[in-house]
Amino acid sequence: MKKTGVNEMRVGILVTHIRAEEKLLVQAFQARGIEPDILLDRNIHLDLTGGAGQIAPSGIAWSDYAVILERCVSTSRGLYLLAILNVWGISTINSYATAVVCADKLHTTLALARTGVPQPGARVAFEDTSALAALEVNGYPAVLKPVTGSWGRLLARLNDRDSAEAIIEHRQTLGDYQHHTYYIQEFVEKPGRDIRAFVVGDETICAIYRTSPHWITNTARGGLATNCPVTPELAALCRDAAAAVGGGVLALDVFEDPVRGLLINEINHTMEFRNSSAPTGVNIPARIVDYALEQARVYA
Ligand SMILES: Nc1ncnc2c1ncn2[C@@H]1O[C@H](COP(=O)(O)OP(=O)(O)OP(=O)(O)O)[C@@H](O)[C@H]1O
Ligand SMILES: [Mg+2]
Repeated sequence: MKKTGVNEMRVGILVTHIRAEEKLLVQAFQARGIEPDILLDRNIHLDLTGGAGQIAPSGIAWSDYAVILERCVSTSRGLYLLAILNVWGISTINSYATAVVCADKLHTTLALARTGVPQPGARVAFEDTSALAALEVNGYPAVLKPVTGSWGRLLARLNDRDSAEAIIEHRQTLGDYQHHTYYIQEFVEKPGRDIRAFVVGDETICAIYRTSPHWITNTARGGLATNCPVTPELAALCRDAAAAVGGGVLALDVFEDPVRGLLINEINHTMEFRNSSAPTGVNIPARIVDYALEQARVYA
């Protein structure tokens, strides 16, 4: 096969729709002389047994892509597409192996526990009675979370047995089977903020504090973003946590526990970063693009 120069490389970005982040990624590729193809997940249909020679919506074969970035808002579409592309031998950011762990808080907890990365305590139960029993072990307050989901949706802080009974009854009665996996995390008394750290490959490239009067500090929920210095301790913890879930381009939520120090709350595999380049001074999309090009399959 012919050797492909960086400018001839075909790069795809899988999206549900184009957000600020995807626009920034396109601009970062263009700054490297590459025009990436936007691949809308709604336009894709694939013969599952047909192999990578099939034509993508862009008009070229999937196998012609040197690397594909998965940026779908729809977690399930993103995961299935990554699984297929990786089976076909196509390089993706992130890998299916990493994404499938990060997409599920229970799997993330297990992966972190396996390598001893510090994290808040978490229990699982599958019915209302056992969920209430699980809550009695560590006491209140506690946090009940859907195992999949983002932007802090359907997170419930359970301050006492009465509120726990009410919320669990609602989940059990109104929720579908996904809401019957009761992922119960210890409530961490963080200092009015948490840390969102960005890892690209094996480097913690920058971090922000997310400060809010509300216990849910996500910037999507009004949390204020300011620069958080990447100390050697934070860098090492995040590198270890990223490696524990398989590595790639990841955003980690970190809590500052007054007694135990830094704890990893969760890891996101298709993170938003529009509010984070300005306070940190780090060009996050450029770092992602450079990493993607390093991971690209280059013909020899
Ligand atoms: N156990 C906890 N103790 C204290 N605060 C918590 C706890 N769990 C979550 N929070 C707060 O709620 C926020 C959202 O929680 P989490 O990141 O687990 O949910 P999410 O819906 O996956 O969010 P996203 O994917 O957008 O980061 C955290 O950033 C933190 O501010
Ligand atoms: Mg989070």
